[in-house]
Amino acid sequence: EVMKEISGLKILEAGITEKLGISKVVVVPGDSDQSPWVKKELGRACVTTMRDRFHQDNIIAVAGGTTVSSVAEMMTPDAKNRNLLFVPARGGLGEKVQNQANTICATMAEKASGNYRLLHIPDSLSHESYQSMKEEPSIKEVISLIKDSSMVIHGIGDAKTMAERRKTAPENMNKIESSHAVAEAFGYYFNSAGEVVHKVQTVGMQLADLEKIECVIAVAGGASKARAIQAYLKKAPHTILITDEGAAKELIRE
Ligand code: F6P
Repeated sequence: EVMKEISGLKILEAGITEKLGISKVVVVPGDSDQSPWVKKELGRACVTTMRDRFHQDNIIAVAGGTTVSSVAEMMTPDAKNRNLLFVPARGGLGEKVQNQANTICATMAEKASGNYRLLHIPDSLSHESYQSMKEEPSIKEVISLIKDSSMVIHGIGDAKTMAERRKTAPENMNKIESSHAVAEAFGYYFNSAGEVVHKVQTVGMQLADLEKIECVIAVAGGASKARAIQAYLKKAPHTILITDEGAAKELIRE
């Protein structure tokens, strides 16, 4: 029975790798929309994938959200004692404290017995304040660490769910809806072709920077995210995807 289940997941992994044209997919059993424990499994699988790709020195940029938070919960100290420095991928995106990249970054570093640096910058700033904040030496230093990161761990969300969760202002809400956004990742909203239709103003990792990062891991599960995962990955082929059976089955069907 267990063997049958494992080979079923391997078939799903192979099918999705081909369908999305990406290099690696890991599928864990269950559907995180239905069962909360599945997020822990996503977290565990992500930690394993991270460890396989660590070098002696690592800068790991982490995004926010409940899924990346469960990656942090599953993190343990590195058996090979490699250097792990954690940074938030981007500044605040309007999430609750426990879902913010800063919080998750600090937790992950503590669980890994690693080090961390945080971005102390408010979520919503006027354009002028934002421009001057970016020039602050302490912020600049963390931004340059972020741009030098060797690994990025991020979530993917459904566009509407994320826009609502962030209490997006009405004019941006209209823009997100009228441009048919279906996916969201680290502050960018994408349509079904994977094109950027809206972007939240914040410091740190920008979409174009991702291409230069050696190892990019997206962790997102649940059948309700299938459409978002598919859209986002159209323009991000060098991403490793950690997902669950719920999203995987829906992805294969679509
Ligand atoms: O807001 C941060 C973020 O990483 C988003 O970019 C992403 O869409 C979302 O969180 C995922 O959150 P969750 O894992 O809770 O679905």
